[in-house]
Amino acid sequence: MLSCRELGYRYPGGGWAIRGVSLEVRGGEALAVLGANGSGKTTLILLLAGLLDPSSGCVCYNGVDVRELGLRYRRVCGVLFQSPEDQLIAPTVREDIAIGPLQLSFSREEVEKAVREAAMQAGADHLLDRRTMRLSQGEKKRVALAGVLAASPKVLLLDEPASGLDLGGVELVKSLIRAYRSRGCIVVFTTQDSELAAELADRVLLLRSGLVHAYGPAREVLSDLDLLAEAGVKPPSPALAYRQAGLDGSPPLTPGELAEKIRELRGDLG
Ligand SMILES: Nc1ncnc2c1ncn2[C@@H]1O[C@H](COP(=O)(O)OP(=O)(O)O)[C@@H](O)[C@H]1O
Ligand SMILES: [Mg+2]
Repeated sequence: MLSCRELGYRYPGGGWAIRGVSLEVRGGEALAVLGANGSGKTTLILLLAGLLDPSSGCVCYNGVDVRELGLRYRRVCGVLFQSPEDQLIAPTVREDIAIGPLQLSFSREEVEKAVREAAMQAGADHLLDRRTMRLSQGEKKRVALAGVLAASPKVLLLDEPASGLDLGGVELVKSLIRAYRSRGCIVVFTTQDSELAAELADRVLLLRSGLVHAYGPAREVLSDLDLLAEAGVKPPSPALAYRQAGLDGSPPLTPGELAEKIRELRGDLG
């Protein structure tokens, strides 16, 4: 289990970027962190990854402070940075994806296998021989993701994994999150897309100016359209359409749920 209690962070010389954040994510659960620009999503991911030291509170993995776990936590934790440029460091794609497996002291064959499999999973297998800095933004993102997956993380922390990707890329990210969750991994991802959160998350943490504006089961948080708007997040389009049509009750959050509601309404009309 990944948890934090009263977590806060102040950048040197700055104000509080996040404050008073408490949460818990169990294996097999996905938490979506939603919030407007500058609400603290990236800061929270870096804290959960143990890459920033909290100014207050702490982050625990299975009840132990991640600062105490050090390298043992780094080994199980995979972080996808918001900007792939912060992630890619090796000259070629193949070398870059191999960094994680090499750090885990895999044998040469194991490294090759891990690189191949991760590249396939992230849809980057056709890029293996390319130079990292010559890739397009979307390609870089896939390679960065492959690098994270190659180290077989048990905790997956993804900062805006779907932003800047085409339709195929977004579908790939969705199926990866589902697969890692059902495999029992802990998944935390940030997004500004409430529909993506509705499709993937068990729970949602809604940040507003670094503070927790809402935290709870995904359906509960995402059905409260006023709460989302207060935090500067666009509510799911199916829910907006439902409300604009003057319909009450729990709004549909995904296209599939909207279709279901329309079928029900058609039935009612006879
Ligand atoms: N390196 C930094 N130094 C000072 N302030 C920062 C730094 N990085 C982010 N911030 C500030 O911290 C707040 C939260 O930023 P961030 O976590 O990047 O938000 P988000 O990812 O939701 O856009 C913002 O006010 C931002 O300006
Ligand atoms: Mg960010």
